Amino acid sequence: MTTDREHNAGSSRRVMLQGALSAGVLASSGALNGIFTPASAAEPVIDANTMNRQWVLASHAEDAISEKNFAFREQPLGDKASLKEGELLVRNIVFTPLPSQRIRMHADTGLGDAYMAPMKLNQPIGGSGVGRVVKSSNPKFPVGALVASGNWEDYTVVRPNSFVSAPIAAGISAVDYASVYGMNTQTAYYGMMRIGQVKAGETVIVSGASGSVGSTAIQIAKINGARVIGIAGGKEKCAKLIRDYGIDAAIDYKSENITARVKELAPKGVDIYFDNVGGPIMQDVVDQMAKFGRVVLCGTISSYDNKNPAPGPRNMLRMVVYSVKLQGMLYTDFMAERDTIVAELRKWKESGQLKHKTDIRKGFKNLPETFMALFSGDKDGTLLLKNDGEA
Ligand SMILES: NC(=O)c1ccc[n+]([C@@H]2O[C@H](COP(=O)([O-])OP(=O)(O)OC[C@H]3O[C@@H](n4cnc5c(N)ncnc54)[C@H](OP(=O)(O)O)[C@@H]3O)[C@@H](O)[C@H]2O)c1
Repeated sequence: MTTDREHNAGSSRRVMLQGALSAGVLASSGALNGIFTPASAAEPVIDANTMNRQWVLASHAEDAISEKNFAFREQPLGDKASLKEGELLVRNIVFTPLPSQRIRMHADTGLGDAYMAPMKLNQPIGGSGVGRVVKSSNPKFPVGALVASGNWEDYTVVRPNSFVSAPIAAGISAVDYASVYGMNTQTAYYGMMRIGQVKAGETVIVSGASGSVGSTAIQIAKINGARVIGIAGGKEKCAKLIRDYGIDAAIDYKSENITARVKELAPKGVDIYFDNVGGPIMQDVVDQMAKFGRVVLCGTISSYDNKNPAPGPRNMLRMVVYSVKLQGMLYTDFMAERDTIVAELRKWKESGQLKHKTDIRKGFKNLPETFMALFSGDKDGTLLLKNDGEA
């Protein structure tokens, strides 16, 4: 990792907001509201000389990602400080590392530019998160408003579009917007409810179950009366899935035989497999789908860190004979339903049915290291990073 020594000093501080699993979530997210909203009088003047720290793509990553793929730089805002009509200058305050960023770090994603264009060398890493408006030439977005943002730099010029059509609603903190009501939980809802069409009494298996999408998907299946089995890496993560989210069973893919465990836990077959990881785990589960089973193809994280495309199921005849439906999905497929989905998630969260863990790290300098935790699994729940100066 190429970095300015001063900015690389110090160690990563991790704040595990496990309290989000209890009624404490309301207190902690409520408390966070006030932190992010106002632009105080003490806010420094932002002009062409204001320094903008950035993490840029130093090299495309075909195999295991490393710190060498990222470079740190710092440069004045220059022309970016002079906004064109309609534009906003935002300070990125919360970053949400996403596995899909890793796909876009390949020189060729093999997926076409329309949906998954590769990131450009020497440009800030394209990301997701929340920014606070610090300058505005758009009356719909006053200074102090929160908006979706998150490229790996302090300041980004945002031109409102269909993704950023309005400020984040008052009363939703930056952390909640980036986690419990974010893209991942909405994806879990859409995948489990609309594609999986979960029903009471069905047997559901979710891989990547302790992650951001997965931990929401298992709870939505449970809320709908299904029998739920999660797959995660490590005995402790598996024990937590049962204890913290009340699911019926968990499989540790690192130490257990998945085929044998699925056979034991789902002797009549699997009605819904919600796949976040692809690869051998997917193979072992889809071989045991029940008649009219549904496979929700949400992601294949096990393939992102190498250049080989994710393989499909080895026995397609099983899919034919068991009338199994396999369906992919992308967040942008359900933009029109976004508000309805968030309202539903909010109802479950406020009634205590939906719990959410956030694993919050701090410090802009720690973005690459934090991002890599998605692939090592050294995290619990939704991974976030707060920029410097954000409490
Ligand atoms: N289709 C869409 O629109 C959409 C939207 C959002 C996310 N997604 C996909 O959903 C999946 C989960 O994303 P997320 O943001 O919620 O991430 P996450 O689950 O919070 O974090 C990634 C987790 O994946 C597991 N993992 C990493 N490498 C693995 C491997 N080789 N084999 C098995 N498990 C591995 C790790 O858990 P363990 O500790 O258990 O190994 C890690 O914690 C990803 O595939 C992502 O691309 C799709």
